Formats: sequence, C-alpha cells, structure tokens
Amino acid sequence: MPAVSRLSRGAETPVCIAHRGASGQEPENTLRAFARALEQGATWFELDVHLVHGRLLVIHDATLERTTNGTGPLTAHTLAELRALDAGKGQRIPFLEEVLELAVGRARINVELKGAGTLAPVLAIVRDAVAGGAWRPDQFLLSCFDWDVLDEARQREPAIPVAPLAGKGAGGEVLETADRLGAEAIHVSRWSARARLVEAAHARGLAVRVFPINSQWEYDLMVRLGVDGIFTDFPARVLAWGAAAPAIPVGGGGSGS
Ligand code: G3P
Ligand code: MG
Repeated sequence: MPAVSRLSRGAETPVCIAHRGASGQEPENTLRAFARALEQGATWFELDVHLVHGRLLVIHDATLERTTNGTGPLTAHTLAELRALDAGKGQRIPFLEEVLELAVGRARINVELKGAGTLAPVLAIVRDAVAGGAWRPDQFLLSCFDWDVLDEARQREPAIPVAPLAGKGAGGEVLETADRLGAEAIHVSRWSARARLVEAAHARGLAVRVFPINSQWEYDLMVRLGVDGIFTDFPARVLAWGAAAPAIPVGGGGSGS
C-alpha cells in the first residue's frame, strides 16, 4: 500500500510544487527563491541537496559554475568558502536547515537526494525537526534517481514518504519500484508523462507528478492526462492556471476518492 493515498484522479487541480523554489524568477535553490514561492502561494518546495564536509547544502549541481560565482567542485572548497559565494542576487547557498526554518508550517518539502551520503544527514535533520514538534514526517518527501537510496530510506525511516524519480522513457520499472518501496508517487520527466503511464500508476494507487512544466500548453496537457502534481519554476503561473481552469474530471467523472 502507498504511504499516502492519491488525492485526485484528474478531478482536482494538480498540486503545484515550486521546483528549486520560484527558480524562474529568483536564483534557484536560494532562500529568496523559496520565499518568493511562498509569497505566490506555493505549499510545496522541491530542492536538491549535496553533502559537503558533513553539512547539507541546497544546490543542484556538484560544481559551482552554473549557479554561483565560484568554480570547481563543491568538495574542493571549505564550507566557509562556499558560504561566502554569491548564488545570485547576493544570496548564499543555503543549508537545508535554513529552508526548513523558512518553510515551517507553510510548505511541504521534497528533498531530492543528490550525490553520495546525503540520506543519513537528511534523516537526521528530519528526525530533529519532527522531535522539535514543528514538523511531521509526512511533511517531507524524499526523492532520488538512485532508487536503491530510497530503498534504504524506507528501511531506516518508513514514516517519511518517498517517490522514485525517472527521466525520459519511464515505464514499468519505475512503477514496480514505487510499488515495492510503498512510495506515494512517481516523479517523472515531462517526456515520460503519457496516458498509459498515468493510468497504470493510478491503478496501483500511485500519484504522478511531472517535472518541469512551465508553459500553459504543457500544463493543460498534464491536466488532461490527469497528473497529480506539477513541478514548476514559475509557481505563480501554475497556481493561476489551476485557479482559472479547474481540472475536468476524467475517467467517468468519479470523485477520485
Ligand atoms: O525532483 C524533480 C526534478 O528536480 C528532478 O530533476 O535535475 O531538476 O533535479 P532535477
Ligand atoms: Mg531536483
């Protein structure tokens, strides 16, 4: 059984997940991007973490060039050097804990585990957050392209929901893995979002969330397919599209409950 049952079968507007924050308007994976997403009404964040010298940094790449004024691999620098860099508009590369402070009581957090060794420190931070009383385990979700990491996550902390990530060409394998993991969803690239995959996922009780969707025609297509969640760099757009045109029930007009 999935950890959390699906909430919609095309009968509800797909949930909007701010992909690296409001990363289309602000520097990705920065506090500024997450704050902007909250202002726009997003209730979910997706972010990427790397483990560097024992701390979890919120950054997509293992190297610095694309998103900061630094160069080279993250691990070639001290934490102090990394924190002194400009990640855009004067923002620092955040620690995961800083995003939790910003989001507490306001957003669910999908932590995408990038790179080796991220699982254990993420679990430690989540456990601390839950022990502190301000968070529940189901306000987190762990995702990863390396499904073995999610297997380990389920064994070590079954209360935290997981979702396997899959890129182009996702099919039966990701569904079987999600089932085996007791995942709440599959998170797939837009290139993999097809009616057959969505139907097969829903038949197994798995939600389908798609990344990244930034244009209205793609959004409309995803709604027609009945997907449950949209990762977007422009949460304001997706929330406005959802408010303007609630999804039409598909598959016989059932409530989806
Ligand atoms: O978690 C969804 C998506 O972020 C996965 O790909 O490369 O954007 O981290 P990427
Ligand atoms: Mg990501």
